[in-house]
Amino acid sequence: MEKNKVIRVIQYGMGSIGSKIVRELLKRSSFKLVGAIDIAPEIVGRDVSEVAGLSQPFNLPVESDPAKVLTSARADVVVHTTGSHLNRIFSQLEEVVRSGLNVVSTSEELVYPFQRHPELSAQLNQLAVDKGVTVLGTGINPGFVMDTMALVLSSVCVEVKRVKVERVIDAATRRFPFQKKIGAGLSPEEFRSKVAQGRIGHVGLAESLYLIAHGLGWTIEEIKEEITPILAETNLRTEYIEVSSGIVAGMEQLAQGLSGGREVLTLHFRAFIGAPKPHDAIEIEGNPPLKVTIDGGVAGDVATVAMVVNAIPRVLAAEPGLKTMADLPLPHAALG
Ligand SMILES: NC(=O)c1ccc[n+]([C@@H]2O[C@H](COP(=O)([O-])OP(=O)(O)OC[C@H]3O[C@@H](n4cnc5c(N)ncnc54)[C@H](OP(=O)(O)O)[C@@H]3O)[C@@H](O)[C@H]2O)c1
Repeated sequence: MEKNKVIRVIQYGMGSIGSKIVRELLKRSSFKLVGAIDIAPEIVGRDVSEVAGLSQPFNLPVESDPAKVLTSARADVVVHTTGSHLNRIFSQLEEVVRSGLNVVSTSEELVYPFQRHPELSAQLNQLAVDKGVTVLGTGINPGFVMDTMALVLSSVCVEVKRVKVERVIDAATRRFPFQKKIGAGLSPEEFRSKVAQGRIGHVGLAESLYLIAHGLGWTIEEIKEEITPILAETNLRTEYIEVSSGIVAGMEQLAQGLSGGREVLTLHFRAFIGAPKPHDAIEIEGNPPLKVTIDGGVAGDVATVAMVVNAIPRVLAAEPGLKTMADLPLPHAALG
């Protein structure tokens, strides 16, 4: 892609994150929004800027038919934000790639899809190679705080024996869908039943673990994952819900990766209403040993928007195929 050319973008998925990405794209002179797709009946047909919460019209309606937009907008890249699970979004990505367009997606499973979905990943990779385009899954978590950031820090180590990452979020500061996703307000029995059905929990912890292993060149022989509810010790209230003492205030999720019978990767995610001292911490046992803590933690939504938008130029410059954050050059802000 020639330098300084304005990058033409289609936004696929105009929900919460998609709308925020549109607001950021419209602020930057290096991007031009040339299409928007969504299926939600309350969104389709409305002007993209209105859906994104802006007052100035942009005169670009949100379309429900992807083919119409993908074939006519002469885009360089599609920013895809419709869902988490690769088997559910595969046909959307396939159509985009068949149209010869690059993809940056916030799908958590796409951050490292090769372990959970080897066949779909191989298919998507081959299609992307054939079409000469690049597909990347990224975001804040997975995509950065519990994986890429650890890899970036490891660049100053000559030896890495073990990596531990901890993310603690005070869920009271997050939007309602997040509070629901971590089970806040459920009884312990409801929590266990929803976890068993795969309806709550953080998607992407195993993907983060495999992404670190991929970057470090480690083979993970076994992964152990567990999700446990955290119960409220007093009555709690957020902008959206009330949680009585003894009810679920959130959850903790642990993923442990074993290599040679030894735990080499430990990812610990804790999110609950009222969590004290939110932070992100990365610890590398190696040479030199490192411990980096971000007090307060990285704010989720704005960081996801930044990561996606800043990834676009690197995706356009990358080799064709299904890539991960560990395959692309160093991430950094590319303002403008
Ligand atoms: N990696 C990360 O760090 C990170 C960070 C934030 C979000 N995410 C993930 O990114 C995704 C988007 O997040 P969000 O908060 O924006 O979700 P959201 O508010 O639910 O928005 C998704 C939008 O896509 C639409 N959609 C669903 N299926 C579609 C299809 N087949 N074609 C066109 N549009 C479709 C939805 O319509 P309906 O409402 O009608 O279904 C909705 O308007 C989620 O999977 C989320 O978990 C990842």
